[in-house]
Amino acid sequence: MRSVIHFVFFFIIVFNEAQVNGTLNNKRFPDDFKFGVATASYQVEGAWNEDGKGENVWDQVTHRVPSPIVNNDTGDVACDSYHKYKEDVAMLKDLGVDFYRFSISWSRILPTGFANEINEAGLQYYKNLVKELRANGIEPLVTIFHWDQPQPLEDLGGWTNDIIIDQFVDYARILFRELGNEVKYWLTFNEPKQTCNQGYGTAQKAPLITSPGMGEYLCTHNLLRAHAKAWRLYDEEFRQEQQGTIGITIDTPWFEPFSNSTADIEAAETKLQFTFGWYTNPIVYGDYPSVMQTNIARRSAQQGFKESRLPQFTEEEKAYIKGTYDFLGVNVYTTFLVSSTDEPDPSMGLDEDSEVLDWQPDDWESTASSWLKVVPWGMRKLVTWIKNTYDNPKIMITENGYSDNGTLEDDGRISYYERYLSSLRDAMELDGVDVIAYTAWSLMDNFEWMQGYSEKFGLYHVDFNSPNRERTAKKSALWYKNLLETRCLVEECVD
Ligand code: NOJ
Repeated sequence: MRSVIHFVFFFIIVFNEAQVNGTLNNKRFPDDFKFGVATASYQVEGAWNEDGKGENVWDQVTHRVPSPIVNNDTGDVACDSYHKYKEDVAMLKDLGVDFYRFSISWSRILPTGFANEINEAGLQYYKNLVKELRANGIEPLVTIFHWDQPQPLEDLGGWTNDIIIDQFVDYARILFRELGNEVKYWLTFNEPKQTCNQGYGTAQKAPLITSPGMGEYLCTHNLLRAHAKAWRLYDEEFRQEQQGTIGITIDTPWFEPFSNSTADIEAAETKLQFTFGWYTNPIVYGDYPSVMQTNIARRSAQQGFKESRLPQFTEEEKAYIKGTYDFLGVNVYTTFLVSSTDEPDPSMGLDEDSEVLDWQPDDWESTASSWLKVVPWGMRKLVTWIKNTYDNPKIMITENGYSDNGTLEDDGRISYYERYLSSLRDAMELDGVDVIAYTAWSLMDNFEWMQGYSEKFGLYHVDFNSPNRERTAKKSALWYKNLLETRCLVEECVD
């Protein structure tokens, strides 16, 4: 029975997709809509131990013997952007982007993680980068934390120890103070779900800790309070003078109900709440989604815990966290199907606690990344759901992209971008979603975490075998450049 339903469903999806593929949206992107590209410090900078930088969790993990990373790759040199940032800015200029999203390496600024000692050379690097961007008319969008916490803080428990909250806020204060005159767009965190669930639950990202059903919730509880405190710091002490804006980037796939049954529709909503709502609900409404609170409390009791494994906010904390965003950054790449189940897995873990099933059909269009299936219509559904669920926020797509093996003739990437952008434009036009920016991941091929250099997302190719790390524009870079000039996905747009 299941396979018949599967088949029928697949048919509906193929049909749906064919419709979307056939015609790209022909409305020009609005004049004030911004286009950019993104990278992150550990993935591109290299210079892992130069000019006083301290060790971070990715240095620590990539230097383990045996290495847990594909091909024993490391970010020791990566794209060498620490030395080649002027070339990076020249590429950005050539693309014609409105903004560049990059992240700051905490241990380059504060080698031990603590704010007692600032590494001036590290700070100078980012000042130079920002200056170069500004000189070329490119707006910096700075991610304060993109997964690379200093190892000395990790040795104390990292994101599971609440002392990190004040350390993070001290670090953010230095950035606001030193860079805030030139940086007007800030993101506190990138994809906290990956930091917490993969970092402290399932051991798929540094610091590779296995504590499912416990570690990810402790991490998130601290991270959300750190986010709120940094946002309030900016709001109270820097905003008036610097006139900037500050948000957070949260990632989620779109979760599509497997069937029209009420149970599957509810299951998909539950999954969205366990992924996107986990962070967005506290930030917009002050507390974890009720389905998380209920499920985890019930399962914790069944498992013999005296209290829920999901920590609780005090009333004061709820009021403090609520409303701490100027816009929502959204990273979206793909879609999963979701169904309910009568036999939920009783073990501990974020996915298990959701008590639903999710998967991607094998025959969906694939990429070089196992988790990344090409499903353009998920883009529109996701942003429309965000609009309806979170009170119509301003949305910046802070990442969206496609992986392959690094070919220069990357037609697959162009086709992905065309269809996802068309779906996004549909959401703006037909559903009135307030999307203000779009960011392609990534400016160039870079260190793809546990996958090392085996999965490539760049608009520019980087020669990782050459000490000079030469960059070469791929076909998609030329395509993106043209899009940024015309702001239009088809031959001729209507306004
Ligand atoms: C999400 C992350 O923010 C980024 O670091 C990563 O490389 C891309 N997605 C692709 O997996």
